[in-house]
Amino acid sequence: MQTLPMTERSPPLRDAGEFGIAIERLEELIELARKRPRMVATSADWNTQACRWCPRLPSFHALSFRPAGREALSLFAGRFGTSRSEEPLPSPDPPAADSRDQTHLLLIDRHRIVDELFLQLDSSTRSRITRLVEEMAAGMIEFSGLFEEQGGVLHEKQQVLDYCHRVIDLPALFVMELLLGDLSGDHERDALEVSETHCPCAQLPGKAGKVVEFGNCNSISTRAFGSQIVVFTRYVCVHGCRCRNSQRGESCVMKVVCVGGGPASLYLAILLKKHQPDIDVKVFERNEPGAAFGFGVVFSDETLDHFEEADEPSYRALTESFRHWGDIEVRHFSGRRFVSGGHGFAAASRRRLLEILTDRATELGADLHYSTDVVDLSSLPEADLVVGADGANSMVRRSLADHLRPSIGQRVNKYVWFGTPKVFDKFHFIFEDTPVGMVWAHIYPYSEEGSTFIVEMAPKTWRGLGFDRTEDDLFPPGVSDDYALKLCEEIFAEHLDGHPLVGNNSKWLQFPTIKCEKWHHDNVVLLGDAIHTAHFSIGSGTKLAMEDSIALAGLLLDGRPLSEALEAYEEERRPVVDSLQRAALTSLEWFEGADRYRDLEPEQFVFSMLTRSQRVTYDNLRLRDPSYMESVDAWYAGSDHGSPVETDASIPPMFHPYQVRDVVLPNRIVVSPMDQYSAVDGMPGEWHLVHLGSRAVGGAGLVMTEMVCVSPEGRISPADIGIWSDEQAEEWARITEFIHTHSESKVGIQVGHSGRKGSTKLMWEGDTDPLDEGNWEIIGPSPIKYRPDAQVPREMTREDMDQVRDQHVGAAIRADRAGFDWLELHFAHGYLLSSFLTPLANQRSDEYGGSMQDRMRYPLEVFDAVREVWPDGKPISVRISATDWVEGGFDGDDAVVLAEALKSHGCDLIDVSTGQTSVEARPEYGRLYQTPFSDRIRNEVGIATMTVGAVSSIDDIHNILVSGRADLCVMARPHLVDPYWTMNAAIDLGYADHDYPKQYLSGLASRRREQDPIAPDVFR
Ligand SMILES: Cc1cc2nc3c(=O)[nH]c(=O)nc-3n(C[C@H](O)[C@H](O)[C@H](O)COP(=O)(O)OP(=O)(O)OC[C@H]3O[C@@H](n4cnc5c(N)ncnc54)[C@H](O)[C@@H]3O)c2cc1C
Ligand SMILES: Cc1cc2nc3c(=O)[nH]c(=O)nc-3n(C[C@H](O)[C@H](O)[C@H](O)COP(=O)(O)O)c2cc1C
Repeated sequence: MQTLPMTERSPPLRDAGEFGIAIERLEELIELARKRPRMVATSADWNTQACRWCPRLPSFHALSFRPAGREALSLFAGRFGTSRSEEPLPSPDPPAADSRDQTHLLLIDRHRIVDELFLQLDSSTRSRITRLVEEMAAGMIEFSGLFEEQGGVLHEKQQVLDYCHRVIDLPALFVMELLLGDLSGDHERDALEVSETHCPCAQLPGKAGKVVEFGNCNSISTRAFGSQIVVFTRYVCVHGCRCRNSQRGESCVMKVVCVGGGPASLYLAILLKKHQPDIDVKVFERNEPGAAFGFGVVFSDETLDHFEEADEPSYRALTESFRHWGDIEVRHFSGRRFVSGGHGFAAASRRRLLEILTDRATELGADLHYSTDVVDLSSLPEADLVVGADGANSMVRRSLADHLRPSIGQRVNKYVWFGTPKVFDKFHFIFEDTPVGMVWAHIYPYSEEGSTFIVEMAPKTWRGLGFDRTEDDLFPPGVSDDYALKLCEEIFAEHLDGHPLVGNNSKWLQFPTIKCEKWHHDNVVLLGDAIHTAHFSIGSGTKLAMEDSIALAGLLLDGRPLSEALEAYEEERRPVVDSLQRAALTSLEWFEGADRYRDLEPEQFVFSMLTRSQRVTYDNLRLRDPSYMESVDAWYAGSDHGSPVETDASIPPMFHPYQVRDVVLPNRIVVSPMDQYSAVDGMPGEWHLVHLGSRAVGGAGLVMTEMVCVSPEGRISPADIGIWSDEQAEEWARITEFIHTHSESKVGIQVGHSGRKGSTKLMWEGDTDPLDEGNWEIIGPSPIKYRPDAQVPREMTREDMDQVRDQHVGAAIRADRAGFDWLELHFAHGYLLSSFLTPLANQRSDEYGGSMQDRMRYPLEVFDAVREVWPDGKPISVRISATDWVEGGFDGDDAVVLAEALKSHGCDLIDVSTGQTSVEARPEYGRLYQTPFSDRIRNEVGIATMTVGAVSSIDDIHNILVSGRADLCVMARPHLVDPYWTMNAAIDLGYADHDYPKQYLSGLASRRREQDPIAPDVFR
């Protein structure tokens, strides 16, 4: 049996993100499933462990015992037209011819088995298995010996395995073996092997460490076996070791002291006491019992499923108090109202939530102490474990700051948390406009008594409206800012229908974004807001806090030593929290920049707001509410979005043409510049003809060349291409002519000079490594080398600057003659003009260094000189690195200043990339990670943009275009492996009017089936 150590196979989410395919949303999982029809994928945990694993593995099935999996199932079912119970699956023998093209779903939860495969079993076997699972889940029976006791199951097991092997081509469905009681034999290799850590007993030869999965234990574990992955949301050892049954498990702690009596602490107390009543849990809360500042808390349906599983009684009490809604209404300041449905949420009052948790914790015997302010850690009673769950201003975090290394970002927007007795019928966002900026409210009903009403605005609006009048007033705990309350009441009077706003400790706040490098130290661990915050606009703070408690309780109870449990808690929760914090940050940043969207048409404003975290997408909104999306499509088709011709809603947004100056692109897809390192003496050759030509035939609207160098010294490597001579221009003309003759694509040239990143090896021989021999002199704004072992560039003189400017001009003149439709200047990635822009490389003391204005002086000179000779009818774009990703480097604000300058100099479009300017960079990779920079530039500066970087799906592209985050979508790596990306997208969308090459028409229905790569890790 192949056993892969966890450490080698468990990349952090960040790594997956580098490939741009981190799975952060169910919709993405669906998209992946759609691309890989053989994959069985349904799991309540899609946003946790699954997202860590599935992007990098050939096929997987994620199994869920949780009711939450039902949501996944029905979404899958809706998407693929797969029925989960009515439609029998094809008989296993013989296999149905097309069955490999179906997505098969497997879902098991502890109440019901709804696996389609089970439907093939006779009903008495099915009910026997269902009963077994329930009994196992309830901890009533041992797993071992189960198989013998349930004689007769083998036959069906064989059927199931046959089905797995032959029909859906999975090695086996592990869970079947487990349910059917056999972990050995022919299918040994499919069974799970775990390390000592997870199964301390490891007693039985050949069977040691195998685990079965079922509900009600409280830990999460992910393990690889063979080429598949099972996401284990729960596990229990089958062989009687200590970790076998956490319900009866032994804890590594007997005395637990919690600081703070919020949701995190109370829930932890409940779970610990519930599973091991003899643990002594003390909670110290500074407020009196029943004191709850704020109004309601919101949970998604998925979160509630987690709660149901963790502790049913508190879940039941909570759901009785909930208000549910599916719709979000957005009221635009123009008076227009928009409703988008299908957003399953529920809310309860925070007071009620705390009451329920308090009652349940008390009932289970937790020792709750109120009106007790814990001033320092030394004042706490002795304990095995101290839990810091004391909220965003955590004393525990402060006390251990040296070990936990917190970073706290104070965000700029002002917000205040009010309530109102008006019971809004659904979630509302209400935007009001004022002469000094927008003011908006996030509103949700939480009970029959009222709604939460959070008012937010930018600081300049806050001052402009005079809210700063109370800035210096001190409000004691419990007292609200009445001035703010009255003014907000006036602003939103029309929507309050005569109801007042109500304060409850309501005063202006600025959101603190809290992160910590470590989450525990010695025997102290932190939970909830004390260790991480997520902006209220994605309503997840309480969810995260309570899910922390679920994870921690499970790990404390599974028998491992405390230090391991705390390490495992951090390891398990951090990726989940990071992912949510990223989404929360994107959402928060949308609201921080909301004023820049003021001029968008109301339809686009609302769509942009609904998709602000980039997790809810174009396709996802359609799944939730088709009629809302019909109206969005209709609006987009009729709007002025750069199309030279009338478009209608039957044309997918990515296929709307786009006009800049006299150039019309047939669609919105751009092949990103990609250095091929394949030129000899800078000459374009057969490779370049085929490379660029096939991507044009593949249907992209614009095909960009790689960086074409303006001089031999301006090359990155000896194999870089150029346009410094007429001979080169003639070769380029052959390529542009091919593209113009054989496709509708336009072809652009990216012109640049390598600067201090020149004279290096080919990418595959050592990216940015200096050459072993034959180095040439390199130049830059200052004599600062790119990396420690790089050459020091010579500081450019004015003469050098004139020469390089003129080389750019020469390149532009030749490019025009060579038939290029579009020219892009390379101001990005640390090459020559980019290095003038960043203070990390430019430390000149003349007028070309220093302030942003000075640093961009030379790049703008080059731009002007090129614009002068480049024909009026042809566009120029400029690629920029919108941030260095380095503290103190070029950042998003600088990018706005640069884009404004470029716009005023006649630049048509900014190609927004980031980074590669410094080896110190710490980019935050992930899906669409550069798109927020494009969004900001486009909407703040009012210039067209293209976005690049981990854009990979049709849904991404539609989302970007319709929300107005960019005008064009640029893809690099996806085009390396699929020159026909656009054509394939047209086929996927059933879009018949794409310009399919006539030579290829007969192949449209015969595409290569999606295959599971054999070993994707090999290609890392
Ligand atoms: C405006 C706003 C809206 C929100 N909306 C939502 C929402 O819709 N959905 C959602 O899920 N979350 C929401 N949240 C977030 C939510 O309030 C928190 O994320 C959640 O309460 C965190 O739980 P916790 O137990 O970690 O901390 P808290 O709820 O902050 O609890 C910490 C407790 O510790 C006590 N304490 C602090 N210091 C001490 C001390 N030294 N000694 C003793 N006791 C101490 C405090 O009194 C407090 O009771 C919102 C937050 C804000 C600000
Ligand atoms: C092989 C390769 C060569 C590249 N060469 C260039 C280049 O010449 N000019 C440029 O601006 N970007 C270049 N890039 C960066 C890409 O254009 C693009 O910005 C980046 O790969 C992110 O997009 P993606 O996630 O779609 O791959 C290159 C990328 C790759 C993978």
